[in-house]
Amino acid sequence: MTTQHLRNFSPGAEPRTPRPLLRPPAEVDRPGRVPVDHADSRRSRELRAEITGWTSYDPRLAADVLSGLSQPRKSIPSTWLYDQRGSQLFEAITELPEYYATRSEIALLRNCAAEIAEEIGPDATMIEIGSGSSRKTPLLLGAMQRPYAYVPVDISGAFLMHSAALLRGRFPDVRIMPVVGDFKRPVQLPHALRFAPARGRRIVFFPGSTIGNLTPEEAVQCLERLGDLCGPNGLIVLGVDQNHNEETLLPAYNDAAGVTAAFNLNLLERINRELGGSFDVGAFRHEARYDSDKRRIEMHLVSVREQTAEVLRRPFAFAQGETIHTENSYKYDREAIESMAARAKMRRLAGWVEERGRFAVHLLEPHT
Ligand SMILES: C[S@@+](CC[C@H](N)C(=O)[O-])C[C@H]1O[C@@H](n2cnc3c(N)ncnc32)[C@H](O)[C@@H]1O
Repeated sequence: MTTQHLRNFSPGAEPRTPRPLLRPPAEVDRPGRVPVDHADSRRSRELRAEITGWTSYDPRLAADVLSGLSQPRKSIPSTWLYDQRGSQLFEAITELPEYYATRSEIALLRNCAAEIAEEIGPDATMIEIGSGSSRKTPLLLGAMQRPYAYVPVDISGAFLMHSAALLRGRFPDVRIMPVVGDFKRPVQLPHALRFAPARGRRIVFFPGSTIGNLTPEEAVQCLERLGDLCGPNGLIVLGVDQNHNEETLLPAYNDAAGVTAAFNLNLLERINRELGGSFDVGAFRHEARYDSDKRRIEMHLVSVREQTAEVLRRPFAFAQGETIHTENSYKYDREAIESMAARAKMRRLAGWVEERGRFAVHLLEPHT
């Protein structure tokens, strides 16, 4: 294979869940008692449920939010931007005139899908990481010869199930097995895959430049896990934003219609809903910045005034102008991808670059 050069939304306001009335649960916070880990202890959750009426919350969300807001520079991993509403808002972002990445990647995939499918061969299983709406999936799946199964993996469970159901209608002969999972950890594949034909390869599809949401170190670790997932005979199809032109980058993350702002601010709504937070969402604003040294876009939520917000009844103070860093989006050129792939024991087999040079699709192959 050769490298080729190719080339109504309305954010609306969700009804706010009334916040539970909160008073310190004496059983948890009284000095002298065995300390309880608020984030992860089952007893702690039960006590809170008794006192506040909460039934449950995701302990990983709680742990990340509590520890992220306790840092001198507040941050929350971008993974938590994606609840059902966050996923819907992200889809709306992909339709925006400023957001070139989705259109560029779709155009590239249209062009290289047949070549990639030829390399994949028949009876393959495709595992898609951070699959979201699976909108790009048909381009590859439709080009493949007798695909055996499709395993979309995403943290945003309800959205994943809906997308999988839609795809079943379109590909009735392919076994579609969604997995709600976290790609920052090893992903458990469905047991039924052991019935897959031995000669079919495993393909990992990782589009959308989601790899850019990880730090370079995390990205290498993630690639290593993806190599384990598809095995030595596998292939990885990786979509990467490589744009570093601030003039097109900044609007892509700060659109005129305010959809990206709604996507970012939804994180505070989510914390209010799921962790009994008391954020005044109107007292924060969205900001996108480009760090040209690190070659990354950063998304922040900026506190417009001095204020305090509670999460799981812990207070967090904000100075005016202080931010919560909510997303990184690293831009990796070909050399960076090759070097990360080498560290993850892979080599780059081929690649395709959009004619304007902003987006690339790379084909990686694990080696032993
Ligand atoms: C940038 S969007 C890309 C969506 C889609 N692949 C595309 O190309 O348009 C990132 C996707 O990864 C998912 N995601 C984010 N963090 C995740 C994690 N830690 N584990 C699994 N999925 C995650 C989100 O729910 C979302 O669907």
